[in-house]
Amino acid sequence: MTDPAGLRANYTRGHLDETEVAGTWIGQLRVWFDAAAADPVVLEPNAVQLATVGPDGRPAVRTVLAKGIDERGIVFYTNYDSAKARDLAANPRAAAVFVWVAHQRQVRLSGPVRKVERAETEAYFAQRPRESQLGAWASPQSQVVASRAALDRLADEAAARFGDGAIPAPPHWGGYLLEPDEVEFWQGREGRLHDRIRFRLAGEDWVRERLAP
Ligand SMILES: Cc1cc2nc3c(=O)[nH]c(=O)nc-3n(C[C@H](O)[C@H](O)[C@H](O)COP(=O)(O)O)c2cc1C
Repeated sequence: MTDPAGLRANYTRGHLDETEVAGTWIGQLRVWFDAAAADPVVLEPNAVQLATVGPDGRPAVRTVLAKGIDERGIVFYTNYDSAKARDLAANPRAAAVFVWVAHQRQVRLSGPVRKVERAETEAYFAQRPRESQLGAWASPQSQVVASRAALDRLADEAAARFGDGAIPAPPHWGGYLLEPDEVEFWQGREGRLHDRIRFRLAGEDWVRERLAP
């Protein structure tokens, strides 16, 4: 096995100074997200790792795709009966991290999470490819399934159920909005003296501060 202790990269691609950072977290996220999305080297620029905490205090993290990024926060879609949904029902806060390693950048967000309005879910679901729409009906996400064949049967049943007709959003599927009250931008620098700029909601006001790396 490759010895991970021997792997070493220099972080020299950029910097994040108080003079250049945007005035709002969403302004800065737009700049970095657009740079990631415009660079073919960055695969799935909207992939974000989402951490939740279960009712027993056990944390869990998994990747989801951010399908909305705006002043409200980050919207992702999932199964409302999944393990993450159970965590969020018990503890409606989450942390998320975008990491664009090719750009030597990460953005961490944390804050309360709530379901989006049903109309927002339905509008997004209607844009999804038909196969993905069927998948949302077919998959009992996070449940144990007996075999791949059993999963394929569920997919066939969903396809038969809808035939060539329109596929509505399943009631057990929809969006969540993570409304951050903290957002931290990290840019790798030389000698591990990285730039970290955090936006933190203090009452009604956002405070911007630099953190030690
Ligand atoms: C690149 C990538 C994108 C993913 N996007 C989503 C997504 O948008 N929604 C989702 O429910 N799961 C997505 N998944 C699968 C989740 O990581 C996870 O396996 C699933 O949601 C079940 O998580 P849970 O059992 O903790 O609820 C994605 C996985 C990867 C690797």
